[in-house]
Amino acid sequence: MSKDNDFAIETHDLSRAFKNVVAVDKLSLDIERGEIFGLVGPDGAGKTTTIRLLCAIMNPTSGAAKVAGFDTLKDAEEIKKRIGYMAQRFNLYGDLSVIENLNFFADIFAVSGDVREERVAQLLSFARLTEFKDRRAAQLSGGMQKKLALACTLIHEPEILFLDEPTTGVDPVSRREFWDILSDLHLRGVTLFVSTPYMDEAERCSRVGLMFEGDMIVCDEPEKVKDLISGELIELRPDNLRKARKIVEALDGVLETQTYGDLLHIFVDNTEKRIPELENLLESQGIEVTGLRQTKPRMEEAFISLIRKRIAEGRANNPVVSEKD
Ligand SMILES: Nc1ncnc2c1ncn2[C@@H]1O[C@H](COP(=O)(O)OP(=O)(O)OP(=O)(O)O)[C@@H](O)[C@H]1O
Ligand SMILES: [Mg+2]
Repeated sequence: MSKDNDFAIETHDLSRAFKNVVAVDKLSLDIERGEIFGLVGPDGAGKTTTIRLLCAIMNPTSGAAKVAGFDTLKDAEEIKKRIGYMAQRFNLYGDLSVIENLNFFADIFAVSGDVREERVAQLLSFARLTEFKDRRAAQLSGGMQKKLALACTLIHEPEILFLDEPTTGVDPVSRREFWDILSDLHLRGVTLFVSTPYMDEAERCSRVGLMFEGDMIVCDEPEKVKDLISGELIELRPDNLRKARKIVEALDGVLETQTYGDLLHIFVDNTEKRIPELENLLESQGIEVTGLRQTKPRMEEAFISLIRKRIAEGRANNPVVSEKD
């Protein structure tokens, strides 16, 4: 039994420094039981370090964290019994079959006898792997390997699950299926803490935190994160993106621009007023525009905007989002 506690995860000024870098900087975070918490941020933001601190496999430099009601420094063993951790480079045993991998993890977590048999069968079915149970792990598709890794992480029925970029490099259909399985776990009451580079996955979370250089810049429900972005958004496809962007940025009422492939996203103070002005200006400069429309800001735009703000405030050490490209 875990201790009575309202929160699955609580951290207070949790910090971890390495020689040259503060990977996690005074993180204070409360996550309720049953949440799906999404952690996003660019490479090196501190996501993996945060997860390793919470899984009690790395000690903080300062600050404290409780997971499932237990202190990560004092009660690491109690925590390990109650959590599942799918590391960013989770290792399956390629020469072992699907079922042998599950049995191997059952051994590690001392799940034996009838309970093991029942659980392995349930997990195979849950991960949609029953018909592949005798296939060697090395011969599974990337998506199936991720599902098997997840199943192995669930063998001891953890109440809190930490997943570090569990779907990176997996095709969109398999990613969706993986998230269907996570939704099932969520419905069963498991608390999920997931880091992801994919914004559509962040949208599925009850709350999402954006990390940048060890700081949690924002932490809120997806809709509220999107509300943080100021202005209304216009999307258009100009025939000369670079030139169009330069012209548009000089126009009154333009708050920010971002590019997406061959699309230009323009945040303005007032779309009704600015759309005709934009169209006239671009036309007069010989730029052809297609697909102009007003659209809703997405999570990705909100995050880019927030990180840029942080860089503009001069608080960032190492800008990763260029203002120019
Ligand atoms: N064991 C370590 N020794 C020294 N520096 C480390 C160590 N682990 C992480 N770091 C540094 O801490 C910072 C945060 O790294 P971390 O792996 O937590 O980032 P991340 O957000 O998970 O990145 P990614 O998206 O690339 O996985 C980076 O600057 C990294 O180089
Ligand atoms: Mg990482």
